[in-house]
Amino acid sequence: MEFKMKQLSQLWVHDSARAKTLALRRRESLFQGELDQRFHYLTEKQAQLWMEVHKHHAPLFRDPEFFDIFKNAAADLASELAGESIHLIGVGAGGGEKEAIVLSALRSAGCRVTYTPLDVSLELALLSAEAAADQGVVEVTPVVGDISALEDIHQWPEEIGGRRVFTAFGLAPNMMPGALYGRLAGALRPEDVLLLSANLAPVSEADLSEEARNRACQEILPQYDNIETRRWLQQVLVDWGISDALSEPVFEVQQLDSIWGIGANCHWLSDVKFYWEGTLFEAEKGSSLRAFYSLRYTPEDLRTVMRKNGLRLGSGYTTACKQEGVWRAFRDSDATS
Ligand SMILES: C[S@@+](CC[C@H](N)C(=O)[O-])C[C@H]1O[C@@H](n2cnc3c(N)ncnc32)[C@H](O)[C@@H]1O
Repeated sequence: MEFKMKQLSQLWVHDSARAKTLALRRRESLFQGELDQRFHYLTEKQAQLWMEVHKHHAPLFRDPEFFDIFKNAAADLASELAGESIHLIGVGAGGGEKEAIVLSALRSAGCRVTYTPLDVSLELALLSAEAAADQGVVEVTPVVGDISALEDIHQWPEEIGGRRVFTAFGLAPNMMPGALYGRLAGALRPEDVLLLSANLAPVSEADLSEEARNRACQEILPQYDNIETRRWLQQVLVDWGISDALSEPVFEVQQLDSIWGIGANCHWLSDVKFYWEGTLFEAEKGSSLRAFYSLRYTPEDLRTVMRKNGLRLGSGYTTACKQEGVWRAFRDSDATS
């Protein structure tokens, strides 16, 4: 068998991706009854199952209007930054497909680009780095860490230099606002650029009632309630040895922090009592563990939530079906759009 090894000049690992931090998050997940979403991506099997979900259900691969909003946002950025040196930082880059669109536009506009995907999953950080390397981007340094690694950005791969462009694609649904926008706002310097995308509740501006938002989320429920997503979400329970004690995830439209979205809860099948990360854990039959959530904002909700967390949404593109949007965003104090 041919032995293959990828060569990257450097791979950085932040403390937030090390065993000690992960044990704490694992502990909190069960005791708080809310699984930290990072645990759906960490192992290579989870990353593989997530890529399957992505391949089968992400509209980016099936519907050109989803691809086009990223292409348009990337083209605008590239024409503005043509010829500059750019350091692209892909926050939670996953497989890196969306960053690849941005990289391609920047390189076509004569930019010299260095690329740093930051992802809590080693496998996904590598996949994203490889997607860029396959395009001919030479200077790629993946960072394995959670979003808190942005607080230590000054320690990252030396002083790479160039204009910093951050991407935060597809994170808005799966991260609570404080963790996501607060951290991005903390990392952004006045001259930095942020491109942010969000999956949206496809609701008409003519009727933004609670009922309409609920209905809009019901419409997109099948994007979540399917075999590939179930398999992906259950993998962590298998890895933790608790899958037999819990029901399958039950998907439903619900509100989280007053934002409508999709939640998936598993229920304990009997009373349970076991040691978990050194502490006795108990749960009653029927009580739930929230395995997954996906917040589906409207653009206006997103604007409000971001403003509360120090960011301002600038111009952007949304699909005609109103299910996804991508925007420029700024730190509120120095917004100039
Ligand atoms: C929904 S996927 C989005 C991936 C990609 N950006 C896209 O739009 O297709 C979420 C990504 O964020 C990563 N992630 C999840 N929690 C994270 C955290 N706390 N810090 C950094 N990355 C995280 C996951 O590993 C995954 O790659």
